[in-house]
Amino acid sequence: MSIQYYENSREFHLWNDQISYSFSILKNGHLGNLYFGRKLRERESFGHFLELARRDMAPCAYESDSAFSLEHIRQEYSGYGNGDMRVPAYEIQCDNGSYVTDFVYDSYRICPGKPKLPGLPATYVESEDEAETLEITLTDALIQTDLILSYTIWRDLPVITRSCRFVCRNPKGIRLLRALSLNLDLPDCDYEMLDLSGAWARERDVRIHPLHRGIQSIQSLRGHSSHQFNPFLALLRPGTDENRGEVIGFSLIYSGNFLAQVEVDTCDVTRVTMGIHPQQFCFPLAKGEFFQTPEAVMVYSANGMNHMSQTFHTLYRTRLARGYWRDRVRPILLNSWEAVYMKFDEEKILAIAEKSKELGVELFVLDDGWFGHRDDATTSLGDWFPYLDKIPHGISGLAQKVTSMGIRFGLWIEPEMISTDSELFRKHPDWRLEVPGRVPCQGRNQYVLDFSRTEIVDAIGDMLEKLLSESPISYIKWDMNRSLTDVYSAVLPAERQGTVFHNYVLGVYRLYERLTSRFPEVLFESCASGGARFDPGMLYYAPQGWISDDTDAVERLKIQYGTSIVYPLSCMGSHVSAVPNHQVFRNTPMDTRAAVAYFGTFGYELDPTKLTEEEKEAVKKQIAFMQEHRELIARGTFYRLKSPFEGNETAWMVISENKKQAIVGYYRVLQPVNIGYRRLRLAGLSENVSYRINGEEAAFYGDELMYAGMLISDGASGVNIPGLYQGDYQARLFLLNAEE
Ligand code: DGJ
Repeated sequence: MSIQYYENSREFHLWNDQISYSFSILKNGHLGNLYFGRKLRERESFGHFLELARRDMAPCAYESDSAFSLEHIRQEYSGYGNGDMRVPAYEIQCDNGSYVTDFVYDSYRICPGKPKLPGLPATYVESEDEAETLEITLTDALIQTDLILSYTIWRDLPVITRSCRFVCRNPKGIRLLRALSLNLDLPDCDYEMLDLSGAWARERDVRIHPLHRGIQSIQSLRGHSSHQFNPFLALLRPGTDENRGEVIGFSLIYSGNFLAQVEVDTCDVTRVTMGIHPQQFCFPLAKGEFFQTPEAVMVYSANGMNHMSQTFHTLYRTRLARGYWRDRVRPILLNSWEAVYMKFDEEKILAIAEKSKELGVELFVLDDGWFGHRDDATTSLGDWFPYLDKIPHGISGLAQKVTSMGIRFGLWIEPEMISTDSELFRKHPDWRLEVPGRVPCQGRNQYVLDFSRTEIVDAIGDMLEKLLSESPISYIKWDMNRSLTDVYSAVLPAERQGTVFHNYVLGVYRLYERLTSRFPEVLFESCASGGARFDPGMLYYAPQGWISDDTDAVERLKIQYGTSIVYPLSCMGSHVSAVPNHQVFRNTPMDTRAAVAYFGTFGYELDPTKLTEEEKEAVKKQIAFMQEHRELIARGTFYRLKSPFEGNETAWMVISENKKQAIVGYYRVLQPVNIGYRRLRLAGLSENVSYRINGEEAAFYGDELMYAGMLISDGASGVNIPGLYQGDYQARLFLLNAEE
């Protein structure tokens, strides 16, 4: 890995064994991109990649040079107003009202490792030789403002992370109207765009569409990253599949409003930009103030989607997630939500906890309904003290009783919200987001606290800190059940209202930071009506997240498959729930539900006191299975083999780093009849190693299993496999062990 500045060519090159990235200082002092992609042989100049042509009508920077037009030069971080006609990465309004800026190269600094981003989640290094960082300072002398572009290249991963900082030195100040994290101009548009879109209970569908001229974008304007779109997109060369083809993945480490946009101009140059959405974003900066953008991550793969995802998985599991739980196996939990919803008393909770313990569950989680006087969604948010009618001995009493059974205790909270029927609202009616004189929208009967205000975040933090310090709580599920509307802060002057959306997110991060550092051994799981804030920003604080409220095994195939495009299995909250399923009313076999949920953090979302004897035995076996294999599942390399978006079958596998153990999950939604023989081509095995499958006598070499395929014909093809369930919603697990 290296970062090099070549004085003669005025070029910066970043490279490691897998990728190269280069750009140059243009003759007007702006930065022009030269290359990003597969590793190139290093040389002093890639200046030949800068294509300049005289095109009629193009505005040019110099009277003497009608080929130097910013409109046709691939920019590193684009501005607007002096030649580039595409949508810019940033926008500033200067004190004289002008929107035109001119940031020119000033200096650079290369440092080992990676500096922290103040107040923001970001990837990090554990030793300085893991990555190297380049910081380029550009300056606009007229408006006395600096722009610092940061690039980190990782030693062992095909990854470049980027962020920007605007520093105001102008006594009259500036107004930052747009400050995206990344701009990448690519020389052609022969790509398809992949994004993860969905809705509540059907998060992160994999969608692929060819690029067209003009703008295609995804976004969130909801104040959180959203069910609708994830802050991620990828560009795929046509024909790319899971194991072949060139892909660039772009991911934003941020949990609020975002924009991820691809603009193709009419000369087929592709511009990718990504960052905080400019809608209702306006940051006035006074002299001495700065604005730091969130971090964007670019991953390059020459070997298809799986390789891109595996890179994200490694980076996010080991250098974004942090703390005590990062590398530890996660407890198998049982969550009370689908078991009792809000209708419970202490006796019922203790019975569930006791039965959970008996079955081998390691952590019992009390979900919504334990605080204030909450029996339904209309009350009590903000009153983070126990509902004594339901739990007479409080959370501390209940948690003591549960933990004395030999099982950990976890609790649900929703700190950012307030119900009008709450003590908190009666005391502080002005703490919610609302515009004076307007009636704010409710969502799920609740309102959003103004987390851009430090005193509000601190007050909620005090309540939660008290709760956590008084009781043996070892897990927190942090929920967030509505989008932000009426975004206005009662304490800010008119000109600062454009800071509220972003400062809200910073408030959430501050509270997470406070609680996770005060209680480092508490496991945090993020949640937002399922997966409405399942993003890399959250992963920095909560190493796992509830990916969806939809617990149906068939729906989960798609949700987990889509989520795995970016996120590692170690962070995917996945549970077995009761049937008929509460969201889609489907009856799937118990083992199928488990075979899907194993590929995540694993747990249950049902009332264990209602299980039949046979189901209880199944649960015990499932827990034993997960305990035996969870290390492999969390840390192994994950391969998608068959997509649920393309047919009746889904398959994936996870394999240990030394390639000696693997687990393959194969799922079939509807049972076909009299079909051809079936084989499943595996991936990632050692070609010359022989593997035994499910402990059977016969063994097969890795090359046979990968290139000829594993034979998986069953009753549907007329092959009788004794003991194998036949019918709709079949799941099969194959355990591969390398022979000594
Ligand atoms: C939404 C979550 O996704 C559910 O799991 C549950 O915690 C409910 N909120 C509780 O209100």
